[in-house]
Amino acid sequence: MKKTSFGQVLLSVLILSACAGNKNLPGNSDIPELKQVYKKDFDIGTAINAPQIEEKDARVAAFIPQQFNAVTPENIMKAEIIHPEWNRYDFDLADKLVAYAQKYHMKLNAHTLIWHSQLPPFVRQIKSADSVRLFLNNHISTVAGRYDGKVYSWDVVNEALNEDGTMRKSIFLNMLGDDFVTEAFRAAQKAAPNTKLFYNDYNNEQPAKRAGCIALIKKIQAAGVRIDGVGIQGHWHLGKVPLKDIEESIIQYAALGIKVDITELDIEVLQRNFQGAEVSQRMKDDPSLNPYKDGLPDAVQQQLASDYEALFKLLLKHRDKISRVTFWGVHDGQSWLNGWPVRGRTNHPLLFDRNLKPKPAFYKVIEAKKSK
Ligand code: XIL
Repeated sequence: MKKTSFGQVLLSVLILSACAGNKNLPGNSDIPELKQVYKKDFDIGTAINAPQIEEKDARVAAFIPQQFNAVTPENIMKAEIIHPEWNRYDFDLADKLVAYAQKYHMKLNAHTLIWHSQLPPFVRQIKSADSVRLFLNNHISTVAGRYDGKVYSWDVVNEALNEDGTMRKSIFLNMLGDDFVTEAFRAAQKAAPNTKLFYNDYNNEQPAKRAGCIALIKKIQAAGVRIDGVGIQGHWHLGKVPLKDIEESIIQYAALGIKVDITELDIEVLQRNFQGAEVSQRMKDDPSLNPYKDGLPDAVQQQLASDYEALFKLLLKHRDKISRVTFWGVHDGQSWLNGWPVRGRTNHPLLFDRNLKPKPAFYKVIEAKKSK
């Protein structure tokens, strides 16, 4: 007979007690809750979109607050939506999101104030540094000011760096120079004294970009301006999650006296080594470019599970430096990776499949707690 180990018994107890709270909810009540299992370690968040904020689908609506205790708006707080014209703001969905987070006692990690992408058209037409500066300050004081005390954190600046650690070209860099990041944090500190302020980027666990990111954070600190944390987005790839770089980064960033969060986690299972437009054309004749249309083969599913397991074991080891881990989407069907960088593919980067069924990766993330 198979012997039951102490670890397995402990896991069963953990799973049973995590299930106990949600018996009568219509979401997916017979599985453990990530937010409960990781309660003592860090928050578990998800990005949500407009229909999810408005709770259009009852099953998804019940599921989200069962599993997650933090939310990030996938798009609706970006400048192009919340600030469409110089003198016009549209707070409709953002206000609904605040009410949503309050209703379910979730932390709201707001995203994002200053970013080169998803800008409203009027910003791209600005021709003078003074006007860019005016936009930056007005936008931050109006948006971050309105939600101070209502959101837990803001990604004040998103993706300001190149892969080699230099500053990325953008209307902000071109018009205001390197200091625009410090200026943005200064404005956010003034407008939102009760909100945690984060710098957020992707690949900033890689050594060169990390060095640039550390220099940027030190510059903000040297100016006497508050920064509370750094977000490592965590858009990683199957079989290639850079655990060593992630660990080194958590340690080095934390040494600056700030929190290190994983803010947009997903693990891509499809190939990326080609241009979007080119492959969209080729995909029509070559189905091998979209190989997992009908589901993930076992071997890939297992690899995804062990990638997530190793990652969460590492994050648990450094839980004192991490305040939350947020997935970029609730389930595979919602992931932006179905449409980027190539439209119309079927991706499987998250813990829950298109029917909200937990994948093997989900159970490995639950099990990762076993040894901790
Ligand atoms: C993505 C959204 O998921 C998509 O729906 C949108 O079309 C484009 O932006 N880094 C970020 C996020 O900081 O805001 C991006 O979100 C994904 C990459």
